[in-house]
Amino acid sequence: MRDKLNDLASAAAEIATADASRLAELKVSLLGRKAGKLTELLRELPTLSHEERRTLGAQANELKKKIEADIDERERTLATPSGAGADVDGSMPGRQAWRGALHPVTLVVDEICEIFRELGFSRVTGPEAETEEYNFTKLNISLDHPAADAQDTFYVGQGTLLRTHTSPMQARVMETNKPPIRVVVPGQVYRRDAFDPSHSPVFEQLEGLAVDEGLSFVDFKAAIDYFVKRFFTRDTVVRFEPSFFPFVEPGAQVQVQCVMCRGSGCSTCKQSGFLEIMGAGMVHPEVFTRCGLDAERYTGYAFGMGPQRIAMLRYRIPDIRLFFEGDMRFLGQFT
Ligand code: PHE
Repeated sequence: MRDKLNDLASAAAEIATADASRLAELKVSLLGRKAGKLTELLRELPTLSHEERRTLGAQANELKKKIEADIDERERTLATPSGAGADVDGSMPGRQAWRGALHPVTLVVDEICEIFRELGFSRVTGPEAETEEYNFTKLNISLDHPAADAQDTFYVGQGTLLRTHTSPMQARVMETNKPPIRVVVPGQVYRRDAFDPSHSPVFEQLEGLAVDEGLSFVDFKAAIDYFVKRFFTRDTVVRFEPSFFPFVEPGAQVQVQCVMCRGSGCSTCKQSGFLEIMGAGMVHPEVFTRCGLDAERYTGYAFGMGPQRIAMLRYRIPDIRLFFEGDMRFLGQFT
């Protein structure tokens, strides 16, 4: 019995250097409830003489406590990282994960399309490289119009160019769809402008087109009024001024009460109290004819706005170039 105790004590000495799997083995072979060596030894105690039981029993219990304590300690040591990772502070907060987000102009485009969706408009897109025919001719813009000049337009080849507005999609949609038509067309357009706080050679436009029997200027005003009040605030005043575009008649310019000064006059609205947000009008009969629709039967309205400009008004952004710089300090504010 005494020898067995000594054997056990030396076996237990291995605990201090055992790795995790060896430690698990030792735990079973020493303390296991069925076949653990120490357990067996303790079971033998009742067979011993009174005297032996007292001394050996005490020693055996002592050894059991020590083995349990040693195993505990070894387990703790193995669970604690050592070496290179020993100075890791497990309580330190993790690094913040980068989350992707939509660009503010995308957010505004999506919101505008959503508002028009409520009015029954579908969202479609079209080509950025266009022909002179769709960009100008079908829209009743003759090729000697200043807009068609190479000074203002990026030509990419004979008769092809980067679209200068999203209006060519009016023609494409009218040629391929039967009225009633209701579409909005967001997309990039190109003009030979220099980069400055309010101009960029490439910018976003959003075209709208509705064609049906019996549509009038009243339907147009109601749709735009609904949009402005949903997008800005319900009390925003909307104003329509006569304007000219070859593909609409009558043509209009839509203005909203200045979001900065609420109409009292400031530098943003050049003291007028109003800001122009889109060009628009009733589809010109000549455009219907050139696109194969019966100008006697159908009427319609069209509008074109600049989502960047609208985003600048909404978020009070002073310079359009901020949209193109990819500066996370700027972009991070719109998530
Ligand atoms: N295409 C015009 C522009 O780029 C805007 C517009 C669209 C005007 C539709 C009238 C109707 O300025």
